[in-house]
Amino acid sequence: MSRSWLCKLLLSFLLFFFCDAVRYEPAMVPIDRRQENTSLALSSKWELLGPFQIGTREATWGADPLEYLGGFRQLQYDQNAQFRSSLPVNGTAKWSIIDATQTSSTATSANASLSVSYTNVDWDFLKIVYGWAAVQYQAWARGEITVTGYKTQSVILYTDAILEYWIDDAHYFGGDFYTYRKAPPVLHLTPGTHKIDLRLVRDVRAFGGILKPTIDVILDIQAASGTLELAKPGILISDVVGGKLASPIASITLRNSGKDDIQIVGIQPAEVRPPLSLQRLDPQVVLAQVPRVLTSCQTDNASPSKASNVVLVAGQTRPVAFNVSLPAYNISSVHYVITYKSINADNKISRLEVSQNLTEQSIYKPHKITYLHPGGMVSYAMLRPPAKNTSCPSGQRLLPVLLGLHGAGLEADNGIVAHALDPVPDLCSWVMFPTGVTPWSGDDWHNWGFTDVEAAVNSIPFWIEHVGWQGPGVDVNRWIVTGHSNGGQGSWYALTHRPDRIVAAAPLSGYASIQKYVPYELWQPMDPRRTAIVSGSLNSYRHEMLMDNAKGIPVLQQHGEIDDNVPAYNSRLLSQLLFQAGTSSSFYDVPRQNHWWDTVMTTPQLVDFYYKQTTNNDTIPRKLSEFNFVVGDPGDMGSKGGILVTHLEDPGQYGKVDVKGRVIKTSNVLSLELEPRLWQRETVIVDGQELELAESLSIYKADGSWEPGNDVSYRRGRQLGAMTAILRTRGPFIVRHQGNQTAHVALQVSRNLHQYFSADSVVVYEASWGDSTSGTGNVISVAIGEAPPSLRPDFPVQVGPAGVSVRDSRGRLHELNEGARLGAAFLRPLEDERLELVLWGSDELGLSLAARLAPMLTGVGQPDFVVLGESARWRGVEGAVALGFFDHEWAMTPSSVVH
Ligand SMILES: *[C@@H]1O[C@H](CO)[C@@H](O)[C@H](O)[C@H]1NC(C)=O
Ligand SMILES: *[C@@H]1O[C@H](CO)[C@@H](O)[C@H](O)[C@H]1NC(C)=O
Ligand SMILES: *[C@@H]1O[C@H](CO)[C@@H](O)[C@H](O)[C@H]1NC(C)=O
Ligand SMILES: *[C@@H]1O[C@H](CO)[C@@H](O)[C@H](O)[C@H]1NC(C)=O
Ligand SMILES: *[C@@H]1O[C@H](CO)[C@@H](O)[C@H](O)[C@H]1NC(C)=O
Ligand SMILES: *[C@@H]1O[C@H](CO)[C@@H](O)[C@H](O)[C@H]1NC(C)=O
Ligand SMILES: *[C@@H]1O[C@H](CO)[C@@H](O)[C@H](O)[C@H]1NC(C)=O
Ligand SMILES: *[C@@H]1O[C@H](CO)[C@@H](O)[C@H](O)[C@H]1NC(C)=O
Repeated sequence: MSRSWLCKLLLSFLLFFFCDAVRYEPAMVPIDRRQENTSLALSSKWELLGPFQIGTREATWGADPLEYLGGFRQLQYDQNAQFRSSLPVNGTAKWSIIDATQTSSTATSANASLSVSYTNVDWDFLKIVYGWAAVQYQAWARGEITVTGYKTQSVILYTDAILEYWIDDAHYFGGDFYTYRKAPPVLHLTPGTHKIDLRLVRDVRAFGGILKPTIDVILDIQAASGTLELAKPGILISDVVGGKLASPIASITLRNSGKDDIQIVGIQPAEVRPPLSLQRLDPQVVLAQVPRVLTSCQTDNASPSKASNVVLVAGQTRPVAFNVSLPAYNISSVHYVITYKSINADNKISRLEVSQNLTEQSIYKPHKITYLHPGGMVSYAMLRPPAKNTSCPSGQRLLPVLLGLHGAGLEADNGIVAHALDPVPDLCSWVMFPTGVTPWSGDDWHNWGFTDVEAAVNSIPFWIEHVGWQGPGVDVNRWIVTGHSNGGQGSWYALTHRPDRIVAAAPLSGYASIQKYVPYELWQPMDPRRTAIVSGSLNSYRHEMLMDNAKGIPVLQQHGEIDDNVPAYNSRLLSQLLFQAGTSSSFYDVPRQNHWWDTVMTTPQLVDFYYKQTTNNDTIPRKLSEFNFVVGDPGDMGSKGGILVTHLEDPGQYGKVDVKGRVIKTSNVLSLELEPRLWQRETVIVDGQELELAESLSIYKADGSWEPGNDVSYRRGRQLGAMTAILRTRGPFIVRHQGNQTAHVALQVSRNLHQYFSADSVVVYEASWGDSTSGTGNVISVAIGEAPPSLRPDFPVQVGPAGVSVRDSRGRLHELNEGARLGAAFLRPLEDERLELVLWGSDELGLSLAARLAPMLTGVGQPDFVVLGESARWRGVEGAVALGFFDHEWAMTPSSVVH
């Protein structure tokens, strides 16, 4: 979960562990700067202005009071200036100067750590009234980057725990809120000083709620090669089991730190270290088997790969997948050469080398496997196959999967995660620890992160075949799910969204929803209809609303009684709601325990639970005679009791289904699909209407009456849900834009997708909007003025040089162009269930406001469409001139708000 002091300790321990385990080769390109007497430095004194109020995850919407005054970037330090602010004594915020807690400067790097705190706010009293919401606030800090020497320096800038900043006159949104350090921007800094303005935003989930409310951030500049380089050292590769790689797919992450676009020509194996077992043999034997260097013209069965189509635009970071196989048994490391060329310059081919030591693991121990995430990049999970001596009940041939979902800030390959179930080595199941793609599981195990879980589970049969596994098989549709903290919340998500696949669930120390974790109290004031839209966009992630979905599923709950990170209230609330939904969990409120303790995953009750539920022989999906269930977003939701809701009438409102035998009652549901195994040949009564299910197991509501069939809609499957539906891409995202006015924002979108989701994206420049939508991935179009044409000409949101026009649910047209600077972010359909997210601005400012809304952090609550007026900069959601949802025909719903 969030990094309390405890998690911070754990994290530093783990980072130490991790960094020690993976050391890399230096970059290929020599960086000899000493001769030039160059150096990099960051200010040791910073000008600070704050504090100001901010709501939980509100910063994405703007809501910065200094924007009312033209923005921090327009203000100069003035000791006497006073700024109205709701938090400090006297209602005024002032400038101050702070010293960086630490700075460092060398020829090729510079860093500064800032620790910001305010004593002119009565935090303790505010907390009594507004809870943890009160210790989230925002402020701005200004400093300088100094480049000495006479040459422009190419650098990367890490911005740990920072969400937004300006460098000179360039705006950057995204930063690195969770300190992943995956996709820093590349800057080409001329000699002299460069202004850097930091928007500091405190977030309880990331910074903790209990200790003094400081904002601690780090800036770290490092010289870059000015060409292709490894964004992350080493290769993401599976472990070796039985002398062979557990999975045949690997990945490297590359960054183009130059000014020209770069194309990858190929990725080939380089020299191979002699196998350990062959080291004493004649080296000629080894070399004869394994050529030391393969050039790109030599044919080799391990590569050339599709990697040869990959283009990295200047400043871009991309993960690149390639197929691997070990050239010999028992080798200890792999070495690859990436060949590449600059697109604009000559055809000169350059090389970049990458190496990775391999980890050999017993096939029965948790080991790393790799597979493709549907987003087109490689992900990994830790897999523990069933033990040799597992004594499963006779007749149990296909074993279930026990999933362990990690907490926030942890990698799945850390021992604390992957070895948490070592004390129960002989379970009658497969045990899997997925990553969800990042330490914060992508989006808290929701859309992107949960897709990763499913891809990981579905890769087990492939692993079985690949390694020639002779043990018991797997039933990929039988899950026992557990997890701690953010992973406890992820377990609730799995339980409520895939009930027909869950044998049993044990959510540990998890939260019910972000809103229950850190209240949304201190957002800028807004019309309750707008609150409803933001909140409705998060419907699918409010587990407290979805407890009905757990009916019939054994649930064990456990929470430390004195947890000061995720309050035990969350588990106690869900326990009460489960009881009221007719499902009693076994609830363990563990005395004297805080958020984490050593055996949190293997308490006596959990050990019993694992043994019992892995041998549970209930038929899945369970046939229930009486149950209800609730659907937030049909795009996220599997079936319950064999009933799948495929569309809601109003997607901004929950849909409900109530089943008693063959009698089904629905509310806000437009179409259903019934699972043949449970419903074939039944006659059902839906909302009082009798229907034969002989020929069709799909039914839909037309003019208030239910009919067989499913020809409901234009918007379906992966297109459903609020703006985060764009994350249901198949293949890399396509980020397209019109030219150099939009290139900066397009690159940021790409960088944020990689930083926050490890996602891959192709950045495409189109002088006039063309047909780049022909790939398989979802498209993000970045536009100023002229927007790309819509697949549906009558689309209800139209943007263009004349402004924005929207057609409301009653067919009335609203022109929203009154000379205003506008920004818009909205979904549109493409062929084959694909989606387009249009990020549009009437000018650069409008675009930068709209681009902030591209999905990145959880809990922001972007609906299907948002049109922002200029005042959103300080008023947040209230400054949107239109926002809301599209229905199944892509028409605006009545629940939407226009002006
Ligand atoms: C890889 O292994 C070799 C030999 O064991 C060792 O010297 C080297 O430091 C390792 N490299 C990394 C990056 O761990
Ligand atoms: C670098 O600094 C040294 C000593 O300060 C000086 O002698 C030398 O001329 C400088 N070189 C350049 C290229 O400025
Ligand atoms: C509050 O405002 C008054 C009047 O402007 C001023 O005299 C006083 O010093 C202020 N107090 C603080 C703590 O800023
Ligand atoms: C800053 O850089 C110095 C020198 O490279 C390094 O020792 C130190 O750990 C860095 N500090 C941070 C906070 O990154
Ligand atoms: C890896 O190999 C498989 C099958 O040989 C092929 O379908 C796939 O495209 C290859 N992937 C890459 C990234 O080269
Ligand atoms: C690989 O190493 C294992 C022991 O570590 C050994 O049993 C096996 O024979 C080796 N395989 C080959 C092909 O060298
Ligand atoms: C399921 O397990 C129970 C004991 O837990 C046993 O009595 C029953 O026969 C089993 N049913 C099947 C179909 O294996
Ligand atoms: C944008 O592109 C045009 C034409 O390609 C070029 O003339 C102009 O200098 C570019 N502007 C910037 C800011 O790069």
